[in-house]
Amino acid sequence: MRILIINGSHRKGNTDIAINKIKEEILKTKDIVDVLNLKDIEMKLPDGCEICAESGICPNILDEFSKKIEPSIRNYEAYIIATPIWSDGVTPLTKIFWDRIVSWCHTDRMYLKGKKLAIIVHGMADENSWDLAISWIKGVCSWEGSVFAGSFKFKSSSKVGDIQIDEKALSTFINDII
Ligand SMILES: Cc1cc2nc3c(=O)[nH]c(=O)nc-3n(C[C@H](O)[C@H](O)[C@H](O)COP(=O)(O)O)c2cc1C
Repeated sequence: MRILIINGSHRKGNTDIAINKIKEEILKTKDIVDVLNLKDIEMKLPDGCEICAESGICPNILDEFSKKIEPSIRNYEAYIIATPIWSDGVTPLTKIFWDRIVSWCHTDRMYLKGKKLAIIVHGMADENSWDLAISWIKGVCSWEGSVFAGSFKFKSSSKVGDIQIDEKALSTFINDII
């Protein structure tokens, strides 16, 4: 299976640490795992035209994302969004990414249809602060026709390296995806 992990963090921090750990675990199963670090890509704001929603490459926004990244991310069987929680939701980078790739407008070009989609969320508050992001991804699965493959939550702080990962819950999460 080919899996893409999308890192929505705005800095090199706890999300990177968690992704490295998760990637290591998945690689034991011989699946292919790539990581897309959104902070390292030139990715402009969506311009509000409907082409984004039609799975097309936007002709109005010529950036690294439209030229190099968007054409290269379609052939995965599973997608995992990994995002810190900001103000009870996903980060701006995560949201911009999704609004650049939405494909619900053109039913024959919905490349996320039937694919697995999962989310990893973490933050310094409690689970009440994280649930909105999980509800959001469930909504995305519903209109993209994707299969919700699970969520993994863990506590982190603003201090890099300060994360609390439940190994058993992580292993269940990974098994549900692969
Ligand atoms: C602008 C901002 C808003 C945040 N809002 C929340 C929040 O609503 N709930 C929460 O649990 N943590 C919140 N946090 C804490 C981060 O999720 C936490 O520090 C996380 O470890 C950061 O991940 P990173 O190291 O990959 O940047 C916020 C952090 C920032 C910078």
